[in-house]
Amino acid sequence: MKLKIAVLAGDGIGPEIMEQGVAVLSAVARKFGHEVTYKEALCGAHAIDEVGDPFPEETFQTCKEADAVLFASVGDPKFDNDPTAKVRPEQGLLAMRKKLGLYANIRPVETFDCLIHKSPLKDELVRGADFICIRELTGGMYFGEKKEGTDEAYDTNFYSRPEVERILRVAYQYARQRRHHLTVVDKANVLASSRLWRKVAQEMMTEYPDVETDFMYVDNAAMRMIQDPRFFDVMVTENTFGDILTDEGSCITGSMGLLPSASTGSSTPVFEPIHGSWPQGKGLNIANPLAQILSVAMLFEYFGLKAEGALVREAVKASLDANVRTPEIQVEGGAKYGTREVGAWIVNYIENKA
Ligand code: IPM
Ligand code: MN
Repeated sequence: MKLKIAVLAGDGIGPEIMEQGVAVLSAVARKFGHEVTYKEALCGAHAIDEVGDPFPEETFQTCKEADAVLFASVGDPKFDNDPTAKVRPEQGLLAMRKKLGLYANIRPVETFDCLIHKSPLKDELVRGADFICIRELTGGMYFGEKKEGTDEAYDTNFYSRPEVERILRVAYQYARQRRHHLTVVDKANVLASSRLWRKVAQEMMTEYPDVETDFMYVDNAAMRMIQDPRFFDVMVTENTFGDILTDEGSCITGSMGLLPSASTGSSTPVFEPIHGSWPQGKGLNIANPLAQILSVAMLFEYFGLKAEGALVREAVKASLDANVRTPEIQVEGGAKYGTREVGAWIVNYIENKA
């Protein structure tokens, strides 16, 4: 297969983990005889610094012309601490999602047995937890009408029926490929937008009799994820709730540096770690590249390249089992590995795999 990849490394630790993601992608492509070409493009804080726009038109074109976007992370403290900044790196990410029509954000929450002890939850609660959060990504409060006055401000949580329907269809498809259990997360006891979600889901569930559909308020879902994460198979929710719940989901696995995501919709799909740009870790060769590398696995799987995706996952698991780990998940007293060393180990594993 020929694949054109747009590479958006972004800010902070982005370029370092991206280097490893690209190395792994190339290693797998060589092994399976795929022809991959890369084109780098600016995004985030360094795009603001260089051209004054966090998602420049040229970057948009590069993404549109690509088969997939591999994205790392954006953000910079100099903007976080300045609420008056006119442009922010995060706007680049939001512009990318909107312009590429990426309405479905797939965030798997998986645990690795050898890292369970790093989870803040008790072993017996979290072991085996394995669910997917499907987050609506181009609607809701993130994109609704807003006003930002001196004494008054608001955001609008707007959703239309087609927006709700299409994300629910994605969720049902995932549920069908998994354990046939879908949890629709909303706040229908308070919010009108949530009642629309619930109404549409109740109508649609009759089309999917093979999937058990249940409904849960978001506050309750946040609690359930801690008390009994294995309850969930596929959960689907609106943009803002999904943002919050997936951070919660990522930490129960033991390291935020492990979770990849895919965003799909009407144009080029984007594959990216769910963690941020971690500016404090920048340039120190300590950032965990695994979420980026697992995003490469999701990229292959998106194109139906199952064996390729599986090999990436196998190599990641092998690295963890071999204690080749970045500092935040390192075994006490064990050898020290940095971002580059973990990446190189995984590439080597892939190259030498019979
Ligand atoms: C995420 C991030 C973004 C979001 C930020 C960086 C705009 O937190 O992808 O979850 O809120 O969607
Ligand atoms: Mn988030």
